[in-house]
Amino acid sequence: MQSRIERIVIIGTGGTIAGAAASATDNVGYKAGQLSVDSLVAAVPALRAESLEAEQLAQLDSKDMDVSTWARLARRVQAHLDRPEVRGIVITHGTDTLEETAYLLQRVLSPQKPVVLTAAMRPATALQADGPQNLLDAVAVAKSEGACGVVAVVAGQVLHGLELRKTHTYRLDAFEPGPDSGLLAVVEEGAVRRFRDWPQGVALGASTLPQDASDWPWVEVLASHAGAQARALEAWHQAGVQGVVLACTGNGTVHQALNGPVQALRQAGVPVWRTTRCAQGRIVGAPEEKGAALTPWAARIELTLELLQRR
Ligand code: SIN
Repeated sequence: MQSRIERIVIIGTGGTIAGAAASATDNVGYKAGQLSVDSLVAAVPALRAESLEAEQLAQLDSKDMDVSTWARLARRVQAHLDRPEVRGIVITHGTDTLEETAYLLQRVLSPQKPVVLTAAMRPATALQADGPQNLLDAVAVAKSEGACGVVAVVAGQVLHGLELRKTHTYRLDAFEPGPDSGLLAVVEEGAVRRFRDWPQGVALGASTLPQDASDWPWVEVLASHAGAQARALEAWHQAGVQGVVLACTGNGTVHQALNGPVQALRQAGVPVWRTTRCAQGRIVGAPEEKGAALTPWAARIELTLELLQRR
């Protein structure tokens, strides 16, 4: 018999996991976000024994994730977490911006129950679709004793919501933990074998995220690179950008052509954060800089949250 708090809520947002191609042998020429979350659940017979409810929140290719959907998602997740009978949440999502949604949800909700994002690299119509196993594994993690915080489950790997990054365009195990960390756990035949603590932190609250997209600050990411020019930054400054994250070369260096506009932005009170565009490591020697250990995309969210809190 199941106890009262076994309910898992599965929230669908689209992605390749809900994608469909014209042919079962086509793993790349598909359209993301075609199948309902109900049909994703129905495709996994092993889930029939679980106490589940499914909710379709969005139907997006996650490259098109937008702030209004983020604000709605954070509120819906919190509403479900507040229900005593709910044990955990699973969110089906596209892989392309999954790390951004995971980072945002962990910082905003820092949930005491598990919020598990899952995805797939192959569409649901593929000969060997990876979505059904990933969904089953995600439910196993959401039910796991003591689990909390935002994590992602893909290809049998459980990754910390603040650290994971998509590092491959095609492989089924397309995600890796951050450079100085490891997997949080693995899922083997439905059993969760854990190596590290679940994500913890202070919740900023879902209400931090404005529901109206126009109330979000405008924060951009700019890469420093050979041949960089001042004019993109100058144009953003003129257009009213409210924060900039630099994806710097190496250990946080910036092309000299960008020095002038960076200084002008800072003098005008527009924060400019440094991150590194290197796949591994952090900016060494800058522990006080908030972007030093983050990917440019995570830093963009962190700066956005900081600007929202300043209001
Ligand atoms: C998406 O991110 O929605 C499409 C790509 C994927 O899920 O792998």
